[in-house]
Amino acid sequence: MRKPLVAGNWKMNGSRESNIALVKGLLEGSSQIANAEILVCPSFVYITEVAKQLEGSSIAYGSQDVAKEEVGAYTGEISVGMLKDIGCSYAIVGHSERRALFGDTDVIVAQKFAAAQNGGILPVLCVGELLEEREAGQTEAVVERQLQAVVDLVGISALEKSVVAYEPVWAIGTGKTASPQEAQDVHAFIRGWISKEDAAVAEKVRILYGGSVKAANAKELFSQADIDGGLIGGASLAADEFISICEAAG
Ligand code: PGA
Repeated sequence: MRKPLVAGNWKMNGSRESNIALVKGLLEGSSQIANAEILVCPSFVYITEVAKQLEGSSIAYGSQDVAKEEVGAYTGEISVGMLKDIGCSYAIVGHSERRALFGDTDVIVAQKFAAAQNGGILPVLCVGELLEEREAGQTEAVVERQLQAVVDLVGISALEKSVVAYEPVWAIGTGKTASPQEAQDVHAFIRGWISKEDAAVAEKVRILYGGSVKAANAKELFSQADIDGGLIGGASLAADEFISICEAAG
C-alpha cells in the first residue's frame, strides 16, 4: 500500500509572521491525520525557522528546488548538502514555473533529480503538459519525454526513491482542475509507463496530482486508483483548507 502524501508548495509566499501562524494551524490540525504523510515546502529563507517550529511533529519539510551542482562557485544556488544539513527530506524538482520561467530544461531537471537523490533527499519530480499540448493530444508524449530524461540519467530503479507529481500546467493556479478521470488517466499512463520497465517500482512510487486542488475537490481526486495524494499551491497557504485536503487523503 502506498501511503498518501500531501505536499504544500508555498512558492514565493509568506513572512516570518505569517509562517508562524500557518505552521501553528497545521500542527493543531494535523494531530487527527494518521494515514497521510504531510510535507511543507517553504521558501528557502524560512525553512530553518519552519523546521524549528515543526520539531517533534510528524510534518516533514523540504525545498522548492535544488542546485544540480554539489558545491562551489554557483552564486545564488542552494545545494542538496545544505538542504540535508538543515533536515529537509524532500526537494521539488521540475516545477512548471521553474521550467517556464527559469530555464529548467528536461536535462537540468534530471540533473537536479540526481543531485537530490545522491545527497539523500527524495525528489518530487513535477511533470505535466501545457494547455496547447493537451489540446493537440500530446499529453502523454510530453509526460513521457519529461520522465524519460530522468530515467536516461538515473535509471528506472531510481524512481523508487522519489515522488512523481503530475501537474497539468493549465490547472496550476488557474482554478481549473483536471477532472478526477482526466487526472486518473494520466496517472495510470505514468504508472503503466514505469511498469513496462519495472513493475515493482511502478507499484511503489507515489504519484501526486497538482493543479488547483482544494478541500472541495480533493476527496474525489484522491479516491482515484493511481492518485496518491497532492501537490498543493494556493490552498496550502491556509491552514484549515490544507488540513481538510490532508484529511481527504488520509
Ligand atoms: P495550485 O498550484 O494548487 O495553486 O494550482 C499547484 C502547484 O503549482 O504545485
